[in-house]
Amino acid sequence: MVKTAILVSGGGTNLQSIIDANLFGEIKNCELTAVISSNPEAYAIERAQYAGIPVYIVDRSIFPNRQSFSKALLDKLIDLEIELVVCAGFKSILSHLLVKAFENRMINIHPSLIPAFCGPGFNGLRVHEAVLDYGVKVTGATAHFVTEVVDDGPIILQKAVEIYEDDTPQTLQRRVMEEAEWKILPEAISLFCQRRLVIEERIVRIMGSLDNES
Ligand code: GAR
Repeated sequence: MVKTAILVSGGGTNLQSIIDANLFGEIKNCELTAVISSNPEAYAIERAQYAGIPVYIVDRSIFPNRQSFSKALLDKLIDLEIELVVCAGFKSILSHLLVKAFENRMINIHPSLIPAFCGPGFNGLRVHEAVLDYGVKVTGATAHFVTEVVDDGPIILQKAVEIYEDDTPQTLQRRVMEEAEWKILPEAISLFCQRRLVIEERIVRIMGSLDNES
């Protein structure tokens, strides 16, 4: 079983999708070892507690900079012998040291079709506002490996979502979550834990067929 830590900062609906998929046996070979929150007020903490997953808080606000925060986080991950780290609505940018330590072992979910509407500042609702302002007709979500450049790492899975004329940032955010994020993030975790992801340069190859995943 791959010891996995989920990093959260907010509502934790992506965390919930992982918990539920794991409960239904849809994520293979994965142990949800820890949920780590950068925000002591995050609702995601309650979701983890309800599911019986150990919760740790590494409060971003008490650290003077990215380096000291990332070092505390790294120590906790090493302590827990974590093999896979999943950023599920995690709002902090991490240091070079931490990203390097988990190279090709850290997955992020982003609520757009990368390389569009991503990078520093593109978080949460802001992404969907930018999508609607630009007038694109299709958006979606991307599960990718984390590298030092924000939202630039090798792409594991993407799913497109149609934009409706009467969409608001809120309705679009919800539909992108329901139709894309909550599906591809658990799937990406399962593929990693089954050791089916092979990275060649920045191309991720998926070993075996995706047809009969269920
Ligand atoms: C999700 O839509 C996630 O994709 C996004 O924040 C939301 C967190 O929701 N992440 C980013 O924008 C990262 N750049 P959640 O806490 O309910 O999972």
